[in-house]
Amino acid sequence: MKLICVENYEEMSSKAAQLVEQQIQRDDHSVLGLATGSTPLGLYEKLIQGVKERNISYKHIRTVNLDEYRGLSGDHPNSYRYFMNEKLFQNIDIMFENTYVPNGKAVPVEAECQRYEELIDKIGPPDLQILGMGMNGHIGFNEPGTPETSVTHCVQLEASTRNSNARFFSDRDEVPTHAITMGIQSILKSEQIVVLASGKNKAQAVKRFLEGRISTDFPASFLWEHNHVTLIVDKDAYSLVTAKEE
Ligand code: F6R
Repeated sequence: MKLICVENYEEMSSKAAQLVEQQIQRDDHSVLGLATGSTPLGLYEKLIQGVKERNISYKHIRTVNLDEYRGLSGDHPNSYRYFMNEKLFQNIDIMFENTYVPNGKAVPVEAECQRYEELIDKIGPPDLQILGMGMNGHIGFNEPGTPETSVTHCVQLEASTRNSNARFFSDRDEVPTHAITMGIQSILKSEQIVVLASGKNKAQAVKRFLEGRISTDFPASFLWEHNHVTLIVDKDAYSLVTAKEE
């Protein structure tokens, strides 16, 4: 586990963008694993800047997203497909058909989960996977209790996750109750994983994560079993850690 502690959200985003761009420079046909939510927004802005100012190209890049709300179609403004199109894909030179997000509307959902897991294996697990962390330690939408052996599956979201994500919806009741998510095993297939955490509301989760105690109670802890993880935290997210770990 490599720990990078930076001053603020801006620096976290820059550092993460640097790692993504280095990956693209190493291999311009890379597969990137992407996340949604507030945490990677700054990273995506930096990646867009990279295309405009540093000649970075996504022409041959493929992306797989971690998750999607169940029941929302890709053109719903709260869907993760929509988020990715708006915040990143339509602003860089990626080919839309090379961007993959689970289909939240697919029926039966089990078949969609299987299709998505096979897709991850087919195009290759991500060379670099970006992760945010839920306050309850979830990665993707793998809520506490999810087994380490999980592959892409449909989950019922915890009340705390729905409350936290309600900020994106006009009404709390509109937050979907279920989501499709890559499993913990799917995530651990990635070559390299970059976890981002920013802000005081993530401090408790970062502290728990850095204890290094692996348990299904805290899904992010399974990342300790992976040999190429970088955690980038800002000062606020790191504020509850007393004993530093490297
Ligand atoms: C999003 C995802 C989630 C978020 C996590 C943190 O695709 O998989 O695990 O990364 O809920 O969300 P934010 O960044 O909004 O705090």
